[in-house]
Amino acid sequence: MPGTCVIGLQWGDEAKGKLVDLLTLNHDIVVRYQGGANAGHTVVIGNEKYKLSLIPSGIFNPAVQCVVTGGVVLHPASILAEIDGLASRGVKLGENLMLSDRAHVIFPWHIAEDRAMNDTTADGEALGTTQRGIGPCYRDKVGRSYAIRLGDLYRDTFRSRVAHIVEVKNAMLKSTNAFEPLKADEIYEQYRECGERLRPHVRDTTAYLLDAAEQGKRILFEGAQGSLLDVDHGTFPFVTSSNSSGLGVPAGAGVPGRYINRTIGVIKAYSTRVGGGPFPTEQNNDTGQQLRDRGNEYGTVTRRPRRCGWFDAVAVRYTARLSGVDELAVMLLDVLSTQNELKICTAYEIDGRRVTDFPSHVDDLRRAVPIYETVPGWHEEISDMRQIDELPAAARAYLDRLSALIGRPVSFVSVGPERQQTMFSRPDSLVGAA
Ligand code: GDP
Ligand code: IMO
Ligand code: MG
Repeated sequence: MPGTCVIGLQWGDEAKGKLVDLLTLNHDIVVRYQGGANAGHTVVIGNEKYKLSLIPSGIFNPAVQCVVTGGVVLHPASILAEIDGLASRGVKLGENLMLSDRAHVIFPWHIAEDRAMNDTTADGEALGTTQRGIGPCYRDKVGRSYAIRLGDLYRDTFRSRVAHIVEVKNAMLKSTNAFEPLKADEIYEQYRECGERLRPHVRDTTAYLLDAAEQGKRILFEGAQGSLLDVDHGTFPFVTSSNSSGLGVPAGAGVPGRYINRTIGVIKAYSTRVGGGPFPTEQNNDTGQQLRDRGNEYGTVTRRPRRCGWFDAVAVRYTARLSGVDELAVMLLDVLSTQNELKICTAYEIDGRRVTDFPSHVDDLRRAVPIYETVPGWHEEISDMRQIDELPAAARAYLDRLSALIGRPVSFVSVGPERQQTMFSRPDSLVGAA
């Protein structure tokens, strides 16, 4: 019953897509179980670069079953565009892609609400969402009255449900900026058509995955976003609307935790964040710009420049524990080459007190002043190196220090976007736990 999870331990974009693609080789099923098209996962294969939003990063191995479960919120036109885009590049997308009939559907009113709400601020600062309708769709899921799941698209009641909800949403949205009344018939037609095209992929994925887990199939769970964006345990309210830490896997996938026996925490060798919210180690200076330039830190989904800063070991020690991480994958280590020295945040000072527990309240995090440990950098380019032993001594020492501070071993080191630009601490790093 080997189940492996790949979980981001920072604020997203830790290069989960690259790692999932590599791990797919040794799995039968790859599962996306939370989030939606706010995710942008990059997989580079040879000269081809693929950006995935809703489709699992296992899709490039045609022998693997890709599953999008009920914990995901999906926008039918977006997933169809993604399917078409991949198919036009020769990627197989037939029975190997399954979508849960329990997945909640994003409608135009969710996107309108996301736009309207994003202008309003929480804590004096905009949330800076991806504006994909993620939060409003999850809100309607929990609220139940105005929710529509993928399976509802195939029921006789679908048309009248859309008509009823459009009436309510038009009344609600009337007072917002740039309001354009929604038209129920148009929306119904559009979603009915998309639904027909998606129909071959739609099924009860909970039943499928429970059978697969009981049969001992090797399942790989692909987290979206990062643990610091978890709605319950992240930097609330500057989070996404799902449980993006390791805690979200069982509920989102519909697979009990007993089937999970390996959790890989993915970290960048530094920190980035897109959107609003506190970021204690942010470098709003030349260092931040150097990291952005070398790491090409511009959002995969929105192309927004990502905020960049030093590695925050207080935050990641917390998320590694929270997400039940067994081992670490340190990505984008090559981006740090050329820095004379590197800083690692090992504690915060809050109101004159030294703190090593990650604060639960955003106001405290805002006042946190990082306490840094400074370590030597290295100047060699490392992206052509293939073994951890080949790395400059300073790079190895940096990895060892991160590992010691987080309290987890490093199994993977990534030195470039391509598959072969990956180092393994053990010959069997890629093999799921037995
Ligand atoms: P994800 O959302 O966690 O899958 O990460 P993204 O795809 O949004 O962002 C990671 C970016 O870094 C992508 O552009 C990857 O192609 C790129 N990338 C992945 N690993 C490495 C690496 O080791 N070094 C460098 N320089 N880039 C990498
Ligand atoms: P991947 O899977 C980085 C951020 C947004 C915003 C906040 C809420 O590629 O790592 P939302 O649209 O979810 O309501 O926005 O969360 N965010 C991400 N940041 N990577 C992501 O996904 C993200 N998904 C959402 O920028 O700050
Ligand atoms: Mg991303």
